[in-house]
Amino acid sequence: MQIRADSGAARIGIEAIGLYVPRYYVPLRDLAVARGVDPDKYIKGLGQEEMAVPAPDEDVVTMGANAALEALADVDTASIDTLMFATESGIDQSKAAAIYVHHLLQLPKNCKSFEIKQACCGSTAALQMAMATVAQRPDRKVLIVAADVARYGLGTPGEPTQGAGAIAMVISNQPRVLALDAEWGAYTEDVMDFWRPNYLDEAVVDGKYSIKVYLKALTESWAQYVEESGRTFEQHDYFCYHLPFTRMAHKAHQHLSKWVGEVRPDNRRVQHSLVYNRRMGNSYTASLYVGLLSLLETAGADLTGQRVGLFSYGSGCMAAFFSGTVVPGYAAYVQKDRQAVQFDNRQRLTVEMYEAFYRHALPSDGRRYQTPAHETGVFRLSGVEGHKRLYECRAQSVHTRPLQPEVAIA
Ligand code: CAA
Repeated sequence: MQIRADSGAARIGIEAIGLYVPRYYVPLRDLAVARGVDPDKYIKGLGQEEMAVPAPDEDVVTMGANAALEALADVDTASIDTLMFATESGIDQSKAAAIYVHHLLQLPKNCKSFEIKQACCGSTAALQMAMATVAQRPDRKVLIVAADVARYGLGTPGEPTQGAGAIAMVISNQPRVLALDAEWGAYTEDVMDFWRPNYLDEAVVDGKYSIKVYLKALTESWAQYVEESGRTFEQHDYFCYHLPFTRMAHKAHQHLSKWVGEVRPDNRRVQHSLVYNRRMGNSYTASLYVGLLSLLETAGADLTGQRVGLFSYGSGCMAAFFSGTVVPGYAAYVQKDRQAVQFDNRQRLTVEMYEAFYRHALPSDGRRYQTPAHETGVFRLSGVEGHKRLYECRAQSVHTRPLQPEVAIA
């Protein structure tokens, strides 16, 4: 599929981008010691140093709304035509997380709001749909929110690849960060590498197989992208790959480099995209775009005019390869001090505290329950009552009803 996105005035792309990272983390060295594993397996073998842990009063709605606050900081919310919420950690089988976010952000009544799912690739499906929306109605803007909690069983091989976070992006015909190219390659195959049946809180994963499918989907979607665009590997200055853990990007880059006949993969084209993921872990739908933001904010050089190749992989599986060019002036719309401001100020959890957060569950019998207050962003989940989630805005009251404190976790 081609959407004319890169020709002069008709450019479509990312006008604004925001990130939310939970305020708690566990060093993977501590987790390795607790699990009786050599820390180098997590740190060098998987390439992960820290894992973000959402507080009991956070979910994809609060994380997504908090990311959106940053993305919308200087965007007129009246211009938002559609809100697409991508997640595979949904909080309701019927009602979209987008509706809650629409309310928390007080978006216009005419703004369409819905949820999109295809594992980690849902955000990229939303991006392509957003481009089509803007191509059809250039006066409109689309807000994409991608939020997830990557959750595996305690003590399983997947545990060190957990994480959480959210990205929000405003897509319009006035890209200030990244102008997207028109050509996309896609790949779909019915495989069981990673999935989560409705009755489970943790993903089921065939880890080694998932890596194989990821790499196959990469070359398949790359091949179609090249056929459509005529671009060569060399015409891409940087690459951002979906990041379940950062070593996966090295495997992917090595695989693609070999595929195109490069003798040795140049890891400088990948390394800046890994900085944030290494400190927050997998965030499923948000992960690729966390990598993009990491590249833009930590490269330490002016990336204006540089073409970035992006690979999105969603288990099950659907994948997409696409690209974009960094827009002049982008530096004013990203935060180069984010590590110091957002990452370095998080609270370190012991493994016992992380396990208590992990085990916290909302009551499922409809009784009233107030979630204990932890460090969160502006929005938090204040409780549940009558099977309804209640959210509050710490800066101003948006959706809060007074609740009696009932249960507190350790
Ligand atoms: N020092 C240094 N390195 C070490 C080491 C040590 N002491 N011990 C092991 N390693 C290395 C291993 O050699 C291996 O590296 P290579 O892959 O280069 O060989 C690496 O550390 C991991 O070791 P294992 O392969 O033995 O690890 P594992 O089998 O216990 O688990 C995993 C790894 C399969 C990725 C597991 O964490 C998992 O299932 N994760 C969830 C699934 C996942 O992330 N899949 C990725 C593709 S699917 C996707 O991308 C979608 C998504 O978001 C989930």
